[in-house]
Amino acid sequence: MQSIPYCANKRILEVGCGTGAFTKEILKKLQDGDEFHIVELSSDFCVKVEKSLLQQFRKDNPDIKVEVHNALIEEANLEGEFDAIICGLPFNNFPLQVVEHVFEVMLGFLRSGRELAYFEYLGMRKLKCVFGLPTIRRETKQRTKNIDARFEKQSGSQEMVWRNIPSCRVVRLTKC
Ligand SMILES: C[S@@+](CC[C@H](N)C(=O)[O-])C[C@H]1O[C@@H](n2cnc3c(N)ncnc32)[C@H](O)[C@@H]1O
Repeated sequence: MQSIPYCANKRILEVGCGTGAFTKEILKKLQDGDEFHIVELSSDFCVKVEKSLLQQFRKDNPDIKVEVHNALIEEANLEGEFDAIICGLPFNNFPLQVVEHVFEVMLGFLRSGRELAYFEYLGMRKLKCVFGLPTIRRETKQRTKNIDARFEKQSGSQEMVWRNIPSCRVVRLTKC
């Protein structure tokens, strides 16, 4: 959540909210005048997050706009730029071309100098490189190259979260 700036009238985007673990933390950072958009593919998760978190939040915070878009991020009908993007998509399960396209789309929505944060479970790529079939090993090496190149290009920083099960790393990319 460090990627969310302390400015007035900020616009925040969450991609792939799932059951809302990150959503709950993002809501704590919002102030009157802010806008929060959530894009989630699963209609079940959209309904769940609406009922468990957003309905009450809107009642308590009428001056904060919160909108859920039940769509793929690649197809979501979003307007304008965002001051932070928090992404919960499981990139290791996506083909590399899809990963590249999704990052291009998300970075396109990000305001210059602002951050996109995503997480990755630790050790998954290493396991695939050691135990995977040759095609999986090749694909995983390309994936690592792709992640490293983006990290370099977008002035990436990272933080390990060991207490999470499984442990993960949070990556923050800055829009140039
Ligand atoms: C790993 S889960 C999110 C975990 C979440 N932080 C939580 O606490 O539950 C990933 C979510 O992304 C959604 N998703 C997958 N691909 C997507 C896409 N292209 N656009 C938007 N949402 C997507 C899935 O439906 C799923 O709910």
